[in-house]
Amino acid sequence: MKRVDDFRLRLGKQEVVPIMIGGMGVDISTAELALEAARLGGIGHISDAMLPTVSDRRYKTKFVSEKQKQYKLNIEITDKSIVQFDLAQVAESTRLHVSRTMEAKRGEGMIFVNCMEKLTMNSPRETLRVRLNGALDAGIDGITLSAGLHLGSFELMKDNARFRDAKLGIIVSSLRALQLFLRKTAKLNRLPDFIVVEGPLAGGHLGFGMDWAEYDLLTITKEVLAYLQAEHLSIPVIAAGGIFTGTDATNFLEAGCGGVQVATRFTVAKECGIPEKVQQEYYKATEDQMEVNNTSPTGYPMRMISTSPSIGAGIRPNCEAYGYLLDANGRCAYIDAYNAEVALHPDAKKISVKEKTCLCTHMRNYDCWTCGHYTYRLKDTTHRHADGTYQILSAEHIFRDYQFSTDNQIALPAKI
Ligand SMILES: Cc1cc2nc3c(=O)[nH]c(=O)nc-3n(C[C@H](O)[C@H](O)[C@H](O)COP(=O)(O)O)c2cc1C
Repeated sequence: MKRVDDFRLRLGKQEVVPIMIGGMGVDISTAELALEAARLGGIGHISDAMLPTVSDRRYKTKFVSEKQKQYKLNIEITDKSIVQFDLAQVAESTRLHVSRTMEAKRGEGMIFVNCMEKLTMNSPRETLRVRLNGALDAGIDGITLSAGLHLGSFELMKDNARFRDAKLGIIVSSLRALQLFLRKTAKLNRLPDFIVVEGPLAGGHLGFGMDWAEYDLLTITKEVLAYLQAEHLSIPVIAAGGIFTGTDATNFLEAGCGGVQVATRFTVAKECGIPEKVQQEYYKATEDQMEVNNTSPTGYPMRMISTSPSIGAGIRPNCEAYGYLLDANGRCAYIDAYNAEVALHPDAKKISVKEKTCLCTHMRNYDCWTCGHYTYRLKDTTHRHADGTYQILSAEHIFRDYQFSTDNQIALPAKI
């Protein structure tokens, strides 16, 4: 019987264990988690979501307070178009996070950065250019383009000295999205080095509508594999979304995938950025609490635990401090939803905004509990203590379980 360790993912000259830990913002897939994946011979991701904020927390910079101070007179104003990011600060936070992570890297694996196009940051093209090139300049092994079609992203990097040597890939949820990307980037004569096909059971934002349940990962993956074969394109396909056991992973590798991208199992690793108190909520969550809703201002459906504090919260928009979802015109759907609610209840001390959430603030504070569909199975991957809490796992334990397990077994950790 085959297991994941019988396969290797080939990316250019390098071969790795075909397990990639997916990017999870904001600093959920931490440097510590990515470093473990690389040490164990696989691929780890850091996320470039809200890096100025992450940099303040990790490296004691003052980017958020400086931005907030600069724009404090705008807090009461609905139009946020003047609340621009300082590109030098975005570049510096990227440099800090990526270079510190890469300096600490050990082992045969690789570390990529997950870069979401939907973080439009009030100046989509320029901020994305700085983020992508900043990561390349700081020595990242590769970039995974996500949350968007990224039709112009290769163009933004084409003059970078590392454009052809770094591993560049994209996440798609349909063959059509892949075809659009390939058509758009054809003139640069630079194919992606890997393609992540993400199905509807993944965590974070989904590349599907609210009819997500009508799609399935294996079918989409097979369509992509057949298309690449017909076009004689030899690009590894990495399946993602709902791959919960080593056996699930092996099935995708046997179907022709080069690797798998997994995330949910690692949300309860001690190296993961989610605070332990919240990790216990992930463990406790039940199947009926797995919710896909439209509260993200990005316009993409997002999966989260239904008890997530972000749902229905009514905090004042925090764009002067954050503002990562402001579009090219300085607008965010949460601002509109918040203002509509304030207009309805002008005298209320506290309001509840149901349709949208202030995603920057809630993700930054780990109050939006985004999760993969199988989060409710996490409790089966560990021990329950006498007080009702669950034992937190090590990333190594989870990684090795994916790598070596067979027969749909999940290895429990040594009891603490
Ligand atoms: C908590 C959490 C946060 C995530 N955040 C992001 C993100 O910021 N960007 C992204 O491209 N994917 C994100 N994802 C998706 C994962 O990278 C991954 O592709 C997917 O969840 C894999 O499926 P699985 O969780 O069922 O293993 C997130 C997933 C989880 C569980």
